[in-house]
Amino acid sequence: MSRISYVNGRYVPHRSALVHVEDRGYQFADGVYEVVAVHKGKLVDEQGHLDRLDRSLWELRIAPPMSRSALRVVMRELLRRNRLRQGIIYIQVTRGVARRDHPFPVDATPSIVMTVALKPPPDPLVLETGKRVVSVPEIRWGRCDIKSTSLLPNVLAKQQAREVGAYEAWFVDGQGVVSEGASTNAWIVTRDGQLVTRPTGNEILGGITRASVLELARKEGIELIERPFTLAEAKEAREAFITSATSYVLPIVQIDDAVIGNGKPGSVSRRLFEAYRVYMEGEGAEA
Ligand code: PDD
Repeated sequence: MSRISYVNGRYVPHRSALVHVEDRGYQFADGVYEVVAVHKGKLVDEQGHLDRLDRSLWELRIAPPMSRSALRVVMRELLRRNRLRQGIIYIQVTRGVARRDHPFPVDATPSIVMTVALKPPPDPLVLETGKRVVSVPEIRWGRCDIKSTSLLPNVLAKQQAREVGAYEAWFVDGQGVVSEGASTNAWIVTRDGQLVTRPTGNEILGGITRASVLELARKEGIELIERPFTLAEAKEAREAFITSATSYVLPIVQIDDAVIGNGKPGSVSRRLFEAYRVYMEGEGAEA
């Protein structure tokens, strides 16, 4: 069965899912996106992702291309047509097609595309080994809270990680503070057992998984604080992990050359991995 995508009101075979060459998403990265996990046929944290999509659109003054209820219908129809039970749904909205000129066009209609992709569920095997991250200089703009398709620094950072066999890259600013990963939020557990993640603000994307994991950590009674932490502190930490809609809760066992803890995923990471897995099938799932 060939993949079906959604392009501006039509369900089309993926190979002919096309937008115009003068779409501003293509020319200016003038658009926003969301990635929503699909687990056992259900959308994970759908409301949070759609709220953030609205916020990103509002920040860039792009009109929502359809109502929330219509969007939810299209997402479900796309899952149905693709018979997707495990994977992701990608939603992208741009300012639309217009003759190339930097200011907003007066009459462009926003473009909306949606695609799906297969992706395996959280793999408990990662709890045996964990993953590595490398640090890279923070070179992004001042509005990382907007989920813009303008991802060139993130692309370069992720490639740098891949080239040395690491899973993720952490952006580190001029003060040595960790912002977040190229496509994930960053967390550590300090030597005295406190869970730490950076507060939301313009410097990072307010991860939907981050918010859910914070809530789960509170329910688990884990001591936590939202505050910035440095790369030096992370390298000395007892544990580290990352979160995102596609990485779930993923333990980190090495940052650059520093081995974290005893080099194995720690107990807090394991607890939250498990709590998030349960959450994806219960509270977090939207039919
Ligand atoms: N990335 N930070 C950045 C820069 C991201 O791109 C993402 C998500 C996150 C985590 O957000 P969430 O928990 O809502 O997925 C943090 C998606 C998955 C991507 O670009 O593929």
